[in-house]
Amino acid sequence: MIDMKTNYGGLMLRNPLIVGSSGLTNNPERIKEYEKAGAGAVVLKSLFEEQIEMQAFEAIHENEYPEAARYINTYVKANQVSSYLELIKKAKTVCTIPIIASIHCYKADAWTDFAHQMELAGADALELNVFFLCTDPDTDYDATLDLCVSILKKVRETVSIPIFMKIGKNIGNIPRLVKTLKDNGADAVVLFNRFYQPDIDINTRQIVSGNVFSNHSDLSETIRWTAIVSGIVQGIDIASSTGILDWEDVIKCLLAGASAVQLCSAIYTHGAEIISQMLVCIEEWMHQAKYESLSQFKGQLSFRNVTDPSVYERSQFMKYFSDRD
Ligand SMILES: Cc1cc2nc3c(=O)[nH]c(=O)nc-3n(C[C@H](O)[C@H](O)[C@H](O)COP(=O)(O)O)c2cc1C
Repeated sequence: MIDMKTNYGGLMLRNPLIVGSSGLTNNPERIKEYEKAGAGAVVLKSLFEEQIEMQAFEAIHENEYPEAARYINTYVKANQVSSYLELIKKAKTVCTIPIIASIHCYKADAWTDFAHQMELAGADALELNVFFLCTDPDTDYDATLDLCVSILKKVRETVSIPIFMKIGKNIGNIPRLVKTLKDNGADAVVLFNRFYQPDIDINTRQIVSGNVFSNHSDLSETIRWTAIVSGIVQGIDIASSTGILDWEDVIKCLLAGASAVQLCSAIYTHGAEIISQMLVCIEEWMHQAKYESLSQFKGQLSFRNVTDPSVYERSQFMKYFSDRD
C-alpha cells in the first residue's frame, strides 16, 4: 500500500503536489477541478497590494476632489480585499484539501491587515510572496532582507495558521535567509518564485515579455538549493517550485529534500490532468523501488546525505568541460 502523505509546514497533505499561486487558482470551480485531479493543496493567486493601489490611483486620477479620492481609495481596497476573502470562503466550501492564501505587499502594515482577514476567512495557511528586486545601488542589501524578516515577524504575531515564505533565487545567501526565517517563525519556504522575464524585440526595439512559463533548464537551481537548504537548515519544510514539469522532476525534488512541490507552468500547459498523470507515475516508480512512503526516500540526495556534497557547490564549468572543443 503506497502512502504519499506529507507534512508540509504543519499541513498534512494527501500527496506533495501543490498547485502554485497564479491565475490558475483565481476561481473556486477550477480549484475544485485540481482537487478532483488529485492535488494535495492549492495556493490562491496573490493579493497584490500594489495592484490595489494602482487601481485606486487610476480611479482617483480622474477625480479632482480629495475627499472623493480618499473615499475611492478606501472603496477600491475594500472591494478587492473582500473579493479575495470571498474566494477563500468559496474555495473552502467546495474543497477539502488545504487552501493556502497568498499576499504580496510592500508596506508592513498592509501585510498584517490582509493576513488577519485571510485567517478569519478560513485560509489554512498563508504564503508570503516576498520577492524584492534590488536595482538601487545605494540600497543596503541587508536592509531588504531585514524587511522580509520584519514582515514575517509582524504577520507571525497576527495569525496562528502556518506561514510559508516564497522567495526568489536572487537572494545572496539563501541558507542564511532560510535559517533566519525559520528562527522567526516561518513554517516552510517556497524555493523559488519566478520573476517576470523581460526580453527585447530587436525589430520594434521594445521590451517585450520573455518566456512566461518555465522550461527544464530552470529545474537545476531548484534542485541545487532544495538539496543544500534541506541538508543545512533543519526544522523547516521546503516546497520546491520552478521548472517542475513532469513526474520525474517531482521525484528529483523529493530526493533532494523537498516536502512538497508547486506546479504552475505544467498545469498551464497540460491542464489539471497532468496532476493525476504525475500521481500515477510517482506511485508506479515508488512501487518499482519498493517504497511505501515518501519518508523512505525524501532527502536521500540532500546536501547532508550525499557522499560528495561538493557536487551541489560546483559553480564553474571549466574543470568539467575543459577537454571539450
Ligand atoms: C501566469 C503566471 C502568474 C503567476 N502569478 C503568481 C502570483 O500571483 N503569485 C505568486 O506568488 N506567484 C505567481 N506566479 C509564479 C508561480 O506561482 C510559480 O512560482 C512560478 O511560475 C514557477 O513555477 P513553475 O515553474 O511551475 O511555473 C505566476 C506564474 C505565472 C506563470
